Amino acid sequence: MPRRNPTTLVPLVTLFESKDGKALPLPAKLARLYGSLRMPLARERPHVISNFVTTLDGVVSLNVKGHASGSDISGFSVQDRMVMGLLRAIADVVIIGAGTLGADRHHIWTAEDIFPDLADEYRQLRTALGKHGPPLNVIVSGSGQVDLDLPVFASGKVPVLIVTTTAGAKRLRKQKASDAVEIRAVRSVGVIRASSIIDQVCRVNTGKLILVEGGPRLLGDFYAEGVLDEQFLTLAPQIAGRQIDDRQFSLVMGQMFASRSPVWGTLVDLRRGGSHLFLRYSFP
Ligand SMILES: NC(=O)c1ccc[n+]([C@@H]2O[C@H](COP(=O)([O-])OP(=O)(O)OC[C@H]3O[C@@H](n4cnc5c(N)ncnc54)[C@H](OP(=O)(O)O)[C@@H]3O)[C@@H](O)[C@H]2O)c1
Repeated sequence: MPRRNPTTLVPLVTLFESKDGKALPLPAKLARLYGSLRMPLARERPHVISNFVTTLDGVVSLNVKGHASGSDISGFSVQDRMVMGLLRAIADVVIIGAGTLGADRHHIWTAEDIFPDLADEYRQLRTALGKHGPPLNVIVSGSGQVDLDLPVFASGKVPVLIVTTTAGAKRLRKQKASDAVEIRAVRSVGVIRASSIIDQVCRVNTGKLILVEGGPRLLGDFYAEGVLDEQFLTLAPQIAGRQIDDRQFSLVMGQMFASRSPVWGTLVDLRRGGSHLFLRYSFP
């Protein structure tokens, strides 16, 4: 049976949408492709959303060399990349962990980098939202074992914040960082609390929309502290399969919620793009 590889960008079909929040001023082409996108009205603390793609059997990373990216999960879906670009285009900040950077070393977390075909539309949208310049790219690393020569740090295309521990900052300061890179240390050993990551972000960027793109270990910490407001999740029509002692990652790693304290969401939006489903859950 051939794998479906949706390379044609056709509009998503909206199957269900909540009317809460305010419709964002999407340029005509994006509105045609996505439909209407609503976000909560402005408030004191930032709104924290996440965006992932998963297989039908719950795998978000095959975690094998050469096939560890989200594209291996989505089947290189253009619609998924369009949605990733859209969420980055409206975000003030994109946060990722060192593992996600390691899996995609040459990437920069901007809308145009994930989907260049719509770069003009994404830029128009940012301007209409009063956002100037790309989103702050935040890299979280407890160890500070991060190569500052990678494009996200060295290209100067995006402002970057590295949130790390005191020991991690010491290690990072041995490398030469470009002026676009700020390093902030949190008093912590190894794992940094999600709320501390958000605090550090808010000291550098006053924007109100934070997008967490993972990976699963970072996302697990956000769920564990209850600081994630919404999960965008693309369901790709793929069964990845697992060995009994598998090494693949699911959406959340390193945290256990069920059965003692399960985390339940509420479906607020559902769109269809061929056999892919685009889900949005709120976690109030
Ligand atoms: N399907 C999708 O939508 C999707 C999305 C994102 C990522 N992924 C995939 O997921 C895989 C990576 O998974 P992962 O769980 O390793 O990713 P990750 O969470 O990005 O990386 C884990 C690493 O990030 C740092 N980190 C994360 N949370 C931290 C915290 N609270 N405090 C301190 N450091 C923290 C640590 O780095 P140090 O070791 O340096 O301390 C940790 O080892 C990749 O294959 C990637 O492609 C898939």
